[in-house]
Amino acid sequence: PDRYYTDYLRSVIRTVPDWPQKGVMFRDVTTLFQNKKAFRHLIDAFVQRYYDFDIDAVAGVDARGFILGAPIAYELNTSFIPVRKKGKLPFDTVQESYDLEYGSATVELHTDAFKPGDRVLLIDDLIATGGTMIAAANLIQRLGADVIEAAAIIDLPDLGGSQKLKEKGIDIFSICEFE
Ligand code: PRP
Ligand code: ADE
Repeated sequence: PDRYYTDYLRSVIRTVPDWPQKGVMFRDVTTLFQNKKAFRHLIDAFVQRYYDFDIDAVAGVDARGFILGAPIAYELNTSFIPVRKKGKLPFDTVQESYDLEYGSATVELHTDAFKPGDRVLLIDDLIATGGTMIAAANLIQRLGADVIEAAAIIDLPDLGGSQKLKEKGIDIFSICEFE
């Protein structure tokens, strides 16, 4: 049985060639979010997977990880922690910089976002080179919390990110893959 609606959810993701630059096949999840049946199946898939993981907090990555992470945190009765792009958080922060499939970026967390030992589910829409997830996981670990799993709708295994995360000892879950 297709427990996570993999084939259906994959089929409603739009691919935009050559965006934001030539050669990138951009996997656009707005078509999944705007489809009410697909959006519900998507959130339910993550909630079912993590219901018994005893998660304390869901950390969502700016910006599509917020759209996913907030309803999952609500359903799991956990807190929601935003991992933000540089310059958006008002209080004391920790920072990590990383390279992207296109360009580079810095993410931040408030220093009081987690308690040591918190069991954290890290979530974003997509894993490409893994730079974003690794930077976010490093921030969470620097605050003494544990990344129980890094989850995404989409993994692009050819870009090596999920492999890199596994090598760092971080378990990965994705609903579907694209080449
Ligand atoms: C995309 C995506 C992930 C990241 C994955 O976001 O939402 O966060 O790239 O790539 P990686 O595995 O190579 O790090 P993007 O950086 O385009 O930012 P956005 O959310 O502001 O669009
Ligand atoms: N982030 C990095 N690579 C991406 C891709 N191919 N589609 C959507 N988001 C991305």
